[in-house]
Amino acid sequence: MPSTLPSTSPTPLPGTVVILGTGGTIAGTSAAAGDNVGYTAAQRTVGDLLVAVPALAAAAIEAEQVAQLDSKDMDAATWQRLAQRVAHHLARAEVVGIVVTHGTDTLEETAWLLQRVLAPAKPVVLVAAMRPATALAADGPQNLLDAVAVARTAGARGVVAVLAGRVHAAGAVRKVHTYRADAFDSGDAGPLGVVEEGALRRFADWPAGAPLGLDRLAGDVADWPWVEIVTSHAGARGDGVRALVAAGVNGLVVAATGNGTLHQALAEALDEAAAAGIPVWRTTRCAAGVLVGPEVGPAAAMSPWQARVELLLQLLPSPRGAN
Ligand code: SIN
Repeated sequence: MPSTLPSTSPTPLPGTVVILGTGGTIAGTSAAAGDNVGYTAAQRTVGDLLVAVPALAAAAIEAEQVAQLDSKDMDAATWQRLAQRVAHHLARAEVVGIVVTHGTDTLEETAWLLQRVLAPAKPVVLVAAMRPATALAADGPQNLLDAVAVARTAGARGVVAVLAGRVHAAGAVRKVHTYRADAFDSGDAGPLGVVEEGALRRFADWPAGAPLGLDRLAGDVADWPWVEIVTSHAGARGDGVRALVAAGVNGLVVAATGNGTLHQALAEALDEAAAAGIPVWRTTRCAAGVLVGPEVGPAAAMSPWQARVELLLQLLPSPRGAN
């Protein structure tokens, strides 16, 4: 059992919550109400999503559509715009928190990007759904209601994700199931808390750390570094890595087997890449656990996809000499 910190105040903070829409299944529709998988993501606006939650009708909420995409297609330009809009609204004194509606597929990548760039002193709550808005039992409206409750929680800070009643910290959150409504997990860390009838019961500290700063994302996205993920597996070859290096890749994350082991053919090619000055970060392809041992590297506790975001951020120029 996680140690139970005192529950935060069940009295929601007054002030404005801004909901930024980016698409996803939460905004998806299907032709048949019973169809939970044959749908098109990103069809409804964030305003439509709010209408489906009568409990929020009287609340001080502003809605803004930042993007409208299936998050499998998330890209640098959308990340840049989203981070700018989040930062803009966080700077407003009357805003107590931000909710971002997002697809589930790359939610953990966006969560990590926003946490590292902004490390916000107010809550930024990513929310999603596994079933489209037209489902018989859509999970989006309850998730949205819970996300707004977290955004209004006194003392809340940092980037978190809220799904199926659980709150996950940006650095721990993982999508772990292909279709279940309760598809997210925080691995060994466990969830940060749970939302119970509109009140957060918290088990762990809010995400913290020094922000890299919005300037980190300021450049033309066409100039952002190219970071790829490669995987070690039975029969792995080095040709893919050599082709990436020849094509100009700027950084590599390897999803290694187990506690960081690599097929010898892949290891050889990665050593060549590293010798050519390309950073190579090691992670595990295991669903849970961290790399343990000497010289595990900077991504030992990260998923391959979050490590890719982190390496991308490290390779972007640091305008004011931030970390
Ligand atoms: C998406 O990630 O945009 C589609 C899938 C989902 O939201 O569950």
